[in-house]
Amino acid sequence: MILVAGGTGRLGTEVVHRLVSRGVAVRVLTRDLARATHVAGPLVEVVHADVRDALSLEPVMEGITTVVSAVHGFAGPGGVTPASVDRDGNANLVGAASAAHASVVLLSIVGASPQHPMELIQMKAAAEANLRGSTTGWTIVRATAFVELWLELITGSAGRSGRPLIFGRGDNPINFVSVDDVAAVVEMAVVDPTLRGQVLEVGGPQNLTLNDLAALAQQRPGSSDKAPRHLPRPVLRAVAASGRVAGSVIARQAAMALVMDTTDMTFDAEPLHATHPHLPFTTVSGCSPGGRTAPRTTQ
Ligand SMILES: NC(=O)c1ccc[n+]([C@@H]2O[C@H](COP(=O)([O-])OP(=O)(O)OC[C@H]3O[C@@H](n4cnc5c(N)ncnc54)[C@H](OP(=O)(O)O)[C@@H]3O)[C@@H](O)[C@H]2O)c1
Repeated sequence: MILVAGGTGRLGTEVVHRLVSRGVAVRVLTRDLARATHVAGPLVEVVHADVRDALSLEPVMEGITTVVSAVHGFAGPGGVTPASVDRDGNANLVGAASAAHASVVLLSIVGASPQHPMELIQMKAAAEANLRGSTTGWTIVRATAFVELWLELITGSAGRSGRPLIFGRGDNPINFVSVDDVAAVVEMAVVDPTLRGQVLEVGGPQNLTLNDLAALAQQRPGSSDKAPRHLPRPVLRAVAASGRVAGSVIARQAAMALVMDTTDMTFDAEPLHATHPHLPFTTVSGCSPGGRTAPRTTQ
């Protein structure tokens, strides 16, 4: 049986769907059973635990052969933080998986490094380092930005004005990947033991600016074609700095927006597809917005 921590989330839901579709039994870990109703089914068991609470993880490991970690603490309910979830929570999961002799497939982010300017990505790097140093079998799946999330954020920000709100100038190219393409890589990592000890980097076929993405979002039925609004970089800097002490979600979002507006976010996704040509490689216009679950958080 496969344990999917984060199985209620945008990516986790697709992973659960893919595993169940091939007849694999899945245990979904959530902090709130009511959040898992959309993944219910004959091959799905839902359990209550919190990755920040190591003791809560021991009982949910029974009979588990592989753990997928699709959690993050960038935003969301429960006062989560990247340090408490992405670094420490993943360390708890890896400890529990090791004790149960289970492998771990860890979701991380392309560019993960202790020197990265974004706290979330530093914490992913810490999670990766801890996993590599553990005794358990591992596969790391690093992904670029999820296009469905960003299309939804852009569309939602337009509100009644009809003008999407873009944080920063929005002219920096960013690699966007479809959640289902990432789920396909996670599924492959779960079922193929020859991928243990490997880092799989998954991105989409397009590097697009947020202005490009807004224009594509506005081509969808029911959207307005009014020009986007922009939140200037100095405002983002002020928000990021003012909230940094408190470590608030809004400060993290402003800091992330600055990084996405000013650093190289492009990625060449071809290598993974050259070695695994069966994997889907979805363009922005080919992805289905919304997916299978209503998102609650941003990243
Ligand atoms: N979004 C992106 O653009 C992006 C890009 C690259 C990589 N990733 C990675 O892909 C993975 C999935 O991201 P997503 O955007 O699909 O996530 P999401 O929809 O925001 O869902 C977050 C998930 O994390 C779980 N979670 C949070 N804190 C938890 C805790 N303390 N204990 C147990 N579960 C907890 C939530 O479960 P409950 O609320 O049910 O407890 C939820 O299922 C993450 O590892 C993320 O870092 C995301």
